[in-house]
Formats: sequence, structure tokens, C-alpha cells
Amino acid sequence: MTLKILIVLFLLEPFVISQSDPITIRKISSGYIRGRKHISENGNEGYVFLGIPYAKPPIGELRFRKPEKSRPWLGVMNTTEYRASCYWNSTATSNFASMFNMSEDCLHVNIYTNKECLTKGGCAVIHYFHGGRFIHGTPTQFNHSFLVDNFASRDVIFVSVGVRNAAFGVLNLNHKLNLSQDINSGFQDVVASLQWTQSEISKFGGNKNKVTIMGHSGGGINVNLLLVSPLTRGLFHQAVIMSGIMGLNVFPLVQDRNEGASRYLAYALGCARTLNKESYDSKFLIKDAVYVDQELLLWYCEQIFITIGYNYTNETIDVCAKEYNSSSRAIDLADNIRYYVPHFNLAERIFQSQQPVYLYQFEYSGIGDAFVSGPNIPQYVPEEIPHHAQEMVLFIF
Ligand SMILES: *[C@@H]1O[C@H](CO)[C@@H](O)[C@H](O)[C@H]1NC(C)=O
Ligand SMILES: *[C@@H]1O[C@H](CO)[C@@H](O)[C@H](O)[C@H]1NC(C)=O
Ligand SMILES: *[C@@H]1O[C@H](CO)[C@@H](O)[C@H](O)[C@H]1NC(C)=O
Ligand SMILES: *[C@@H]1O[C@H](CO)[C@@H](O)[C@H](O)[C@H]1NC(C)=O
Ligand SMILES: *[C@@H]1O[C@H](CO)[C@@H](O)[C@H](O)[C@H]1NC(C)=O
Ligand SMILES: *[C@@H]1O[C@H](CO)[C@@H](O)[C@H](O)[C@H]1NC(C)=O
Ligand SMILES: *[C@@H]1O[C@H](CO)[C@@H](O)[C@H](O)[C@H]1NC(C)=O
Ligand SMILES: *[C@@H]1O[C@H](CO)[C@@H](O)[C@H](O)[C@H]1NC(C)=O
Repeated sequence: MTLKILIVLFLLEPFVISQSDPITIRKISSGYIRGRKHISENGNEGYVFLGIPYAKPPIGELRFRKPEKSRPWLGVMNTTEYRASCYWNSTATSNFASMFNMSEDCLHVNIYTNKECLTKGGCAVIHYFHGGRFIHGTPTQFNHSFLVDNFASRDVIFVSVGVRNAAFGVLNLNHKLNLSQDINSGFQDVVASLQWTQSEISKFGGNKNKVTIMGHSGGGINVNLLLVSPLTRGLFHQAVIMSGIMGLNVFPLVQDRNEGASRYLAYALGCARTLNKESYDSKFLIKDAVYVDQELLLWYCEQIFITIGYNYTNETIDVCAKEYNSSSRAIDLADNIRYYVPHFNLAERIFQSQQPVYLYQFEYSGIGDAFVSGPNIPQYVPEEIPHHAQEMVLFIF
């Protein structure tokens, strides 16, 4: 009996936090955490809680998925130093990779508060998103003292968050195909972090009804997107957008613009065996590598239906123009309608008449020209090879 009681007490011990415990220990929904005091070079005092998980690590089965609620932990988690940042290409940004540990386990918030807030509560909250065009950057670039001097020591709680960058956050293979991937997982991280602030910030002395979202550059665009998203209703009350706004010329928001790059990434990593390519005949619709010429698109949708003898209506053309209204889709318009759809339809008809029909996919490269072309035939760039008619090589034994 005595032994049993002893065991129970021993197991419970880490959870018993008494009134006399230091204010650096907080109980949040998923467990206890220990932060620390930080005194800035200017002598201002703040309390910091760094690297608190706001979601499960998005690794393994959870990679490319919406964030899930953190698993509770036992005992007290030390949250006294920054944890790893989400991955990005640090060569491209000339930020020294060695200054930051990077990991896929990066869904953390960092909190800067002060004694007044921790003991009395009710402090206003800033929820901050770093910049980096959704490709790079980390909240762990922020200087603790700066945040204590400017926010925490003035009774404003500062929360910075790490969200998935680049392919980990915005991979978009084809969301219309119901793949096992969620799209916009990085933006879902943003929403999850705001939900976390709503449910937990009072434990750091924050007023959850006084949350200001704020960000610079890509973080500013994030704030701008949050202002128009129905997913964020009630999660914040004011917004500050700094040097970054939706529709910046340098960063046009074109629906599914990331699809082409995502497919290319899958191909480059050996996860996809081919890129769609046959003739790329519709590439002329794409202007400046980004925009799809609207007049040409409508005209071409109609022309292509005429040439294949398709009984189209104005509505069919509208559907076509809507579907191929991005650079990553427009490039496949001619190939899909001229080659893939008719081949598929033919195969289906043969199949329906109970005849065997087989679909093959071939991989080959570097075969040169199968035909001697005239002077008006354009040179294909490497991405366009193998090209239409070059499958001839398959019949050369
Ligand atoms: C957490 O911090 C406490 C106090 O500094 C220390 O005693 C303990 O060993 C730390 N725990 C871990 C897992 O680092
Ligand atoms: C990272 O950026 C450098 C410099 O822009 C570039 O050469 C390199 O290919 C990039 N690496 C990846 C994996 O994108
Ligand atoms: C990176 O992680 C290692 C091992 O956990 C640690 O010793 C080091 O201080 C970390 N570096 C940074 C910049 O956080
Ligand atoms: C951080 O900011 C403080 C002032 O808030 C400054 O004194 C200190 O030098 C900064 N640290 C670094 C590493 O830049
Ligand atoms: C994807 O799922 C939705 C909802 O379950 C369904 O209506 C749609 O037909 C599916 N699309 C494909 C391409 O399977
Ligand atoms: C074309 O479609 C219309 C309805 O959309 C139909 O009335 C007409 O018969 C069709 N023509 C042919 C040749 O199939
Ligand atoms: C289809 O569109 C053309 C040009 O936009 C128009 O002249 C024609 O009346 C439309 N046809 C129908 C049936 O709406
Ligand atoms: C194509 O997208 C542009 C914005 O990128 C929009 O202005 C236009 O109306 C769209 N066109 C169609 C046919 O959906």
C-alpha cells in the first residue's frame, strides 16, 4: 500500500506547481513550460518563453498536411532558447545557415512578456509574422533585447511564430485531384498559430480580445491575406501591414501559380517520372513568364475546339479559359486538349466495348531529332525534350 502511494506521488510530482513557484513556469493546455528572465543591454526586464510548440511536428505522415494540435507532454518543457527554424535556402538569401538550426520540426511560438503582465494579466498582444516571400526567413532572427525594449517592457506581449516555408508550406501538385496532400499548409500554420494565441495567451498575461497581427514584407502579405480570410474571424482585432501587400508587382497573386514549380520539384526529386509535355504549343499564351493573355486565351480555347471538331458552347469556352488561366496550366492547354483528352476518350471507348486497351508511359531523353526539320521549326529547349513525334525512337530496335 505504502509503495503504491509513493509511486503515485512520484508520478504526480512534476505536475504539482505551487503558488510559490517562480513566474517563469506556466501551465498551458499541452503541459508545463519554463521560460526565463531577460534583461536587455538597456536594462529593461522581460520574460521570454521560446520555442513553444503550437502544433505537432509536421514530419512523416504529417508532412504537407494541415497542422494538428500538439501532443501533451509530461513534466516541464524548457523554453528558454530559440528552437530550430523552418527550412529555407540560406544560400539564396545570404543568411548564414550556421547561424540557424533548421528542421522540419519548426512549428513554434516565441513569447516576450513582463512581470506586470504575468501577474496582473490584460496586456495587449502583437502576433508577428516574419518576411521572406513565403520561401525563407525565421522568427529566430529577432534580437531578444530589441523585443524586450520595445514591446515587453512596455506591457505589450510580443508573439512571433515559425511557419513552414517554400515547398513544405506551399507545395501545390493539383488540388483538384484530391491528393493525400493538403494545400497551403504554411498558411494553415498561420491560422493554427492564431488559434493557439486565442487559447493560451492569457497564461502569459495577454488579453485575447486585444490581438494585433503584424508583419513585414511576406509577413505583411500574410497579414493582408488574413484580413480577407473567413478562417480567421474572431482571431485578431487590429492589423499592421509593413512593406508587403497582396498584388505587389514583384509578387503577383495568380491562382495556382505554384503548380508548375511544384510539379517540377517532384520531378527533380525523382518523385514524379515525367512532366506533362508533348508540344507545349500553347506557351505563346504566357506573357513575361507569368501572365496569361486573356484575349488570346479565349480565342485559343475556341480555336482548339474547332480544330478537334468539338461541339462547344460559350460556356465550354468559359470553363476552358478559367481552367487554363495561369502560366502553369496554360502551357498544357494544347497538349491536353489535342493529345491527352482524345487519346483518353478513344481508350475509354475501346474499353467500353470490352476490348483490351493499354496505357504506356515511356521515359527517354537525349535522342536528338527524330525528323529532319525545316528552318521554320523552332529549336526545343531542354525542358521541351522529348517532344511531339520523338516517340519514334521507341520503334527503333
Ligand atoms: C531544464 O532546465 C532546468 C533548470 O535550468 C534544468 O535543471 C533541467 O535539466 C533542464 N531540462 C532539460 C531537459 O534540459
Ligand atoms: C539555393 O540558392 C542558390 C543561390 O541562389 C542556388 O544556386 C541553389 O540552386 C538553391 N538551392 C536549392 C535547393 O534551391
Ligand atoms: C543548434 O543546435 C545545437 C545542438 O542542439 C546547439 O548547440 C546550438 O547552440 C544551436 N545553434 C543555434 C544558432 O541555435
Ligand atoms: C540587440 O538589441 C540591443 C538593443 O535593444 C542591442 O544593444 C544589442 O547590441 C543587439 N544585439 C545584437 C546581437 O545585435
Ligand atoms: C474530390 O473529392 C470531392 C469531394 O469528395 C468530389 O466531389 C470530387 O469529385 C473529387 N475529385 C476527384 C478528381 O476525384
Ligand atoms: C451540339 O450540342 C447542342 C447542345 O449543346 C446540340 O443541340 C446539338 O445537337 C449538338 N450538335 C452535334 C452535331 O452534336
Ligand atoms: C457566344 O459568344 C459570342 C461572342 O462572345 C456571341 O456573339 C454569341 O451570341 C454567344 N452565343 C450564345 C449562344 O450565347
Ligand atoms: C484570369 O485571371 C485574371 C487574374 O489573374 C482575372 O482578371 C481574369 O478575369 C481571369 N479570367 C478568367 C477567364 O477566369
